[in-house]
Amino acid sequence: MSFLSEAMRYDLLVVQTAAVAAIAQAGAWAQCLSGVGDCHVCSSTPALTAHTAHAFTHQNLDITTPALGNVAAAAPTAGPSKKTGKTPALGWNSWNAYRCNISETRLLAAANDMVSLGLKDAGYEYVNIDDCWSEMIRDPTTKRIVPDSVKFPNGISGAADQIHDLGLKIGIYSDAGTMTCAGYPGSLEFEDIDAATFNDWGIDCELTKYSQPEEVTEKAVIDLKYDNCNVPSNWTDTETPPHDNWYLSNSAIRFRQMAGALAAQTTHPIQLDLCIWGTAHVWDWGAKVGHSWRMAGDSTPDWNYIKSIISFNAQHLDAVDFFSHNDMDMMEIGNGNLTIEEQRTHFAAWCFMKSPILLGTDLGLLSASQIQIITNSELLAFSQDTTIGTPATILGKNTTDPPEFFSGTSEKGAHVFIVNTANSTETKRFAFDSVPGLSDAKRKASSFVVHDMWTGKDVGTFRASGEFSVAVAPHDTAAFLITPA
Ligand code: GAL
Repeated sequence: MSFLSEAMRYDLLVVQTAAVAAIAQAGAWAQCLSGVGDCHVCSSTPALTAHTAHAFTHQNLDITTPALGNVAAAAPTAGPSKKTGKTPALGWNSWNAYRCNISETRLLAAANDMVSLGLKDAGYEYVNIDDCWSEMIRDPTTKRIVPDSVKFPNGISGAADQIHDLGLKIGIYSDAGTMTCAGYPGSLEFEDIDAATFNDWGIDCELTKYSQPEEVTEKAVIDLKYDNCNVPSNWTDTETPPHDNWYLSNSAIRFRQMAGALAAQTTHPIQLDLCIWGTAHVWDWGAKVGHSWRMAGDSTPDWNYIKSIISFNAQHLDAVDFFSHNDMDMMEIGNGNLTIEEQRTHFAAWCFMKSPILLGTDLGLLSASQIQIITNSELLAFSQDTTIGTPATILGKNTTDPPEFFSGTSEKGAHVFIVNTANSTETKRFAFDSVPGLSDAKRKASSFVVHDMWTGKDVGTFRASGEFSVAVAPHDTAAFLITPA
């Protein structure tokens, strides 16, 4: 599949062979720093702790021995904050729209569009900066990453303040290697400094008045996308990890270093997205480290990508639940030549598989029908359901790739989603008694109401012992809520 080979291509291209010098971080960074535009949050920012002394200097130890080397044994085990990320993140990210051409102006434009186009009201809340936001080198004294002063004249915290004023949250990006994919400073071996820096930037000056951690509201949450480029050779995985447990792999440990740093250095919940491209069996351990994890290489705005990621993700949906989301990558609605039906499938599948949904286009250029798709309240409600965390999964025996029938349950009832992978309109059928979520209801009900989640209207009432059929346009997805009549 093309996206898997892209992930492998990344591995081959970006792995650096130079060993990284161990940095004595502890004590090198004073507790109260004020980088470009920082709030002064000394009182709420914890000092760097002994956590920084974790076994970086022992990184050449062989962790493939059954006894586990020191690196694996000393790796942080802190899990993601349970104060954020219960349901998949909804927001916007700069990468698919602008690549490296980002700026405060573009970020603020996206944030304002989110408000004026009704996206914020629909539940979108993150405005996430991707790669290329910093200077090429760290501050020589503090070792902090320095925001690019041309792209971000008010620093990241200055941009964050304006985003927060709109009632939205900010996201930042870094990398579990020596450099980001575009060659900017990475966080490997600087995890504590960077976690503390991001923490400071995400906090409104306003919030320093709160003294109790529980008073630090969700407003202060930031999102960290953590990428996987430029990994020194001694941090890659060439063999099966100890005990065949990928949580103990070098890859997992690089991400665990940052999860540990976030737990130790931050005063408010930070949502952690592991941008690990579906490597290192991340679906087996991702939930122990972050809130979501990329399942494959980068999205492209075409039907082949959408089909291939639905197909792959359909095999790993048992990893998805509250605080635990397979990331199918950022949205391409508004990019490329996807038909409106393909865009509906793109959005519906990301909702019913409970992937994060990060819009990736110039929002101001979206058409009314595109906005209608991405603000569909019933699909978003399925994605954001706070009573049932599991996604829709494959229904019955599918004969297509990707599968076409999925079913799931929300607090409203049972749902069936039908993707037409064919290039022509097709009539799709399912029997009500084949839908797992209806088996209990069926004992009590002799008929069901089928409700179309796209139109918000009931289709009709049908005998529970019968079948439902619907014509689905090429590459479109039908979405239904089914409840006892
Ligand atoms: C890739 C990542 C993309 C984007 C890019 C930035 O590794 O998958 O989503 O973040 O890096 O350079």
